[in-house]
Amino acid sequence: MGRRFRPELQTQIPMLKNPSSKYRPFPLVQIPDRQWPSRALTQAPIWCSVDLRDGNQALAVPMNVSQKLELFQALVKCGFKEIEVGFPSASNTEFAFNRRLIEENRIPEDVTIQVLVQSREELIERTVQSLVGAKKVIIHLYNSTSPAQRRVVFGMSKDEIIQVAVRGARWIKDRVPRLRGTEVMFQYSPESFSMTEVEFAKDISEAVMDVWQPTTERRMILNLPDTVEVAMPNVYADQIEWMCRNVRNRESLIVSLHTHNDRGTGVAATELGMLAGADRVEGTLFGNGERTGNLDVVTVALNLYMHGINPGLDFGDLNQLREIYERCTGMTVPARQSYAGELVFTAFSGSHQDAIKKGLAEWAKGAREFWDVPYLAIDPADIGREYREVIRVNSQSGKGGVAYLLESEFGIQIPKDMQREFGPIANDEVDRLGREVSAAELKAMFWREYVERAFPWEIEGFETESRNGVVRCRARLLCEGKPLELAGEGNGPLAALVHAMTGGGLSRFEITNYSEHALGSGEAATAIAYIQVRHGDGRTRWGAGVDTNIEMASVKAVLSALNRG
Ligand code: KIV
Ligand code: ZN
Repeated sequence: MGRRFRPELQTQIPMLKNPSSKYRPFPLVQIPDRQWPSRALTQAPIWCSVDLRDGNQALAVPMNVSQKLELFQALVKCGFKEIEVGFPSASNTEFAFNRRLIEENRIPEDVTIQVLVQSREELIERTVQSLVGAKKVIIHLYNSTSPAQRRVVFGMSKDEIIQVAVRGARWIKDRVPRLRGTEVMFQYSPESFSMTEVEFAKDISEAVMDVWQPTTERRMILNLPDTVEVAMPNVYADQIEWMCRNVRNRESLIVSLHTHNDRGTGVAATELGMLAGADRVEGTLFGNGERTGNLDVVTVALNLYMHGINPGLDFGDLNQLREIYERCTGMTVPARQSYAGELVFTAFSGSHQDAIKKGLAEWAKGAREFWDVPYLAIDPADIGREYREVIRVNSQSGKGGVAYLLESEFGIQIPKDMQREFGPIANDEVDRLGREVSAAELKAMFWREYVERAFPWEIEGFETESRNGVVRCRARLLCEGKPLELAGEGNGPLAALVHAMTGGGLSRFEITNYSEHALGSGEAATAIAYIQVRHGDGRTRWGAGVDTNIEMASVKAVLSALNRG
């Protein structure tokens, strides 16, 4: 009995209690002596960007020629030597793009453009026309090979599917003489390779090889796509190792990976596929591509980099690359995207912030040979991202993050002990706001809490004179708005002020902590002083004062502490 589609029930049908009644486990590849699990990656693969083809075809609004040109240039700048520029037989825009690249001499000598084509003679003809005059090209032929595609889409037997590929390979080969002066390489993809029986993938690939006759000197690319990711990455790795070990004349092939990300493991599948013997990797910037996307090349390249392997691609200005990508494709890079996302070098939690701060300080001292900063997989600076981005503050943050931001953004070096007092004050305020706060907002909080405290005590004037090691001060103060003049002596201006105030009737207090530093430099430089006072009853309070005169900044800091109760 056929299954009936009942749209009215669509929203009510729950997930199946027994999914095995609808879905099957993926069959394993019989390869008991698999080698890839005990290998390690030691070098970068050959990279091929498919941004302008696979990435482009997945956009709701595909890129126009000028957007493709801009992205092409950015890809070249990253160091891609193979770039699939499009599907020239698919539309006039795609064809025109190829022509602009070639006729305007926009392809560097060491860059090969790649074009995709189906196994249809008229499409192959147009594709070849689009390449006339190019220096180096890869013509990429594909046809679908999985059981579902053979059955549902083509209604063809295995032999008939092989004949589709063979015909395409011949049509291409026959036309190569027309591309005089062009270095031509062939590429074949059994599309849906990972859903295809490995034995059949081998048969069809070898049939294409029989036409193209690759040699070790003139290799062809055999691209083995994970068109729809349907199994775990280890299964894909097994499929790749099986192909590498069983396909005839392996040395005449460049085995290439092309993973998508339906199960969210496209990167892992590629990495394991590389272990399994592949030489080449196709993918896109930030993983743009059909459905859940293509492989994110940036991630795989930087994963190699973080293990000390030169990826051969330069992502030294990842922010700029992301901007170009977003402008050209209209896509946005998610905040949590590996390496490129806005938040990936950001720690909100206090303990993380503290550890990062200590790790960065240790690194800055040059005490360690290898990068080993807690919570930071790589040095953000290596990819053009800033340390400043590392710490942001929300209600989960601790005093460490607050102090780091104030210091890195404004040079405010709050003493450790004072951080313990201000941290919770800032935290309560951030919690009340219920959002992340900027460094400027934190500074405003600090100013409100300490520097701008002007009640009940305010300073109007402070003069000192020193004789025989004794400092005498005259302080003109306002107490709850009423003028008051006090005088006192001590071994320094602050001691004199304390004596003046306690002698003037204020209950006993002493200064237990003091530090100061300049804020900024040049003529307009001001100083900030931090002072902790201890009252007669044991209470301690911090205060801060800012002034162009360091003595005045200290006096203000004392009053700030007293004003805080
Ligand atoms: O995903 C895929 O299989 C493809 C092929 C055309 C290589 O994009
Ligand atoms: Zn693809």
